[in-house]
Amino acid sequence: MNLTVIGTGYVGLVSGTCFAEMGNTVTCIDVDTKKIENLKGGIIPIYEPGLEAMVRRNIENKTLRFSTNLNNHLQKCDIAFIAVGTPMGDDGSADLKYVLQVAKEIGLHMTNPLIIVDKSTVPVGTADKVSATIQKELEKRNVDIEFHVVSNPEFLKEGDAINDFMKPDRVVIGSDDQKSTEKMRTLYSPFFRSSQDRLITMDVRSAEMTKYVANAMLATKISFMNEIANICELVGADVNKVRIGIGSDSRIGYSFIYPGSGYGGSCFPKDVKALKKTAEEHGYKASLISSVEEVNDRQKLVIAQKVITRFGEDLKGKTFAIWGLAFKPETDDMREAPAIYIIKELVQRGAKIQAYDPKAMKEAEHFYLKDMKGVTYCKSKYDTLKNADAMILLTEWKEFRSPDFEELKVQLNTPIIFDGRNQYNDVLMTERGIEYYQIGKKL
Ligand code: UGA
Repeated sequence: MNLTVIGTGYVGLVSGTCFAEMGNTVTCIDVDTKKIENLKGGIIPIYEPGLEAMVRRNIENKTLRFSTNLNNHLQKCDIAFIAVGTPMGDDGSADLKYVLQVAKEIGLHMTNPLIIVDKSTVPVGTADKVSATIQKELEKRNVDIEFHVVSNPEFLKEGDAINDFMKPDRVVIGSDDQKSTEKMRTLYSPFFRSSQDRLITMDVRSAEMTKYVANAMLATKISFMNEIANICELVGADVNKVRIGIGSDSRIGYSFIYPGSGYGGSCFPKDVKALKKTAEEHGYKASLISSVEEVNDRQKLVIAQKVITRFGEDLKGKTFAIWGLAFKPETDDMREAPAIYIIKELVQRGAKIQAYDPKAMKEAEHFYLKDMKGVTYCKSKYDTLKNADAMILLTEWKEFRSPDFEELKVQLNTPIIFDGRNQYNDVLMTERGIEYYQIGKKL
């Protein structure tokens, strides 16, 4: 098929590239000229394992193109995907200005029957708004062209995006038009070679809702477990054991019950807020969802609080080694990363920070911690330790899993680890003579 993907952020770029890999002809559109120029040369703006190689391969095969001009591509197109950003508005709702701008452009320039797909995470009712915006433009042009708006939310995870897209757990297609559903089914069939059961079709509004509910459910599991971790610590239980104990129940499962420094990223925080807002707009107070958010905000500072309890309120003259800045491993994304909040708290109290992250240091230095004084970026994890009073682990990158603890002890002023992701075994730490703090278990 001939596809156009509008917006080359995470979702747009991964979707476009994977559709091309499956043999479709794809044009990815973005208003950012520099980004498009780089993409034409195979340079991608994010760190995502395997993506750059796949982009380059498909450019060479001529299955993937990049352009800033939507008009030229609409004529030859079977399906147009809207994958632009939906930033969080001041009131917590998803801001649809970019989505509706694209809808307007489509209405202004489309010449043939078209399926328009909402791929961005958008609140319930957005497909209707997109449809109305396109219809308005067609009426202004005095033309009558058949089009249908379909909801096809994306469930990929950063860091494992290619795998998630090429071998999806499920694909949700929300459409109120049978022919469009069938066309979408044809597009996605090659991704399900053994069984088509996980290609789930439904009405548009249910599909829009499914995305928010999936993310809110996962965020709820995490916040629930973080709250349990805090209670475990108070009553003298070990959350790591409790996690294994409950996860063995297949109704609960082991995934997404790892306690830590709170969830971050561009999705969970934004989607939980937007779902709460949608409920409010319909006169419903979503207390459970509000609590998920509250617990997460508090959780981001639990490790900082442990540092303060150990070293005192005033941290002047203290230096801390930070291992990990990204909101999770295998990404350079720092949106809503706990590291931002923890580093801010420590710096405000006078501490100096020596930080290292395998991929996110540029993001930190140039955007998220840009004006923060007292933060030094180091070349390796061991470089952060020189003259530091403790190491604080905030992202569970593989290279932090089994470091040279003897080197750590030699370099640190005092052998202390604050582990915001429960990566190490507390008994082994004590045996090694390391003062070890983690989430959900009192020393
Ligand atoms: C999430 C969803 O997992 C995807 O299915 C969805 O498509 C995506 O949002 C989106 O809406 O675009 P992502 O934000 O990339 O994906 O990251 P996750 O791997 O889900 O992790 C989210 C956060 O939860 C991270 O901060 C992670 O550290 C935290 N987490 C995860 C925990 O604290 N504990 C866990 O047990 C699992």
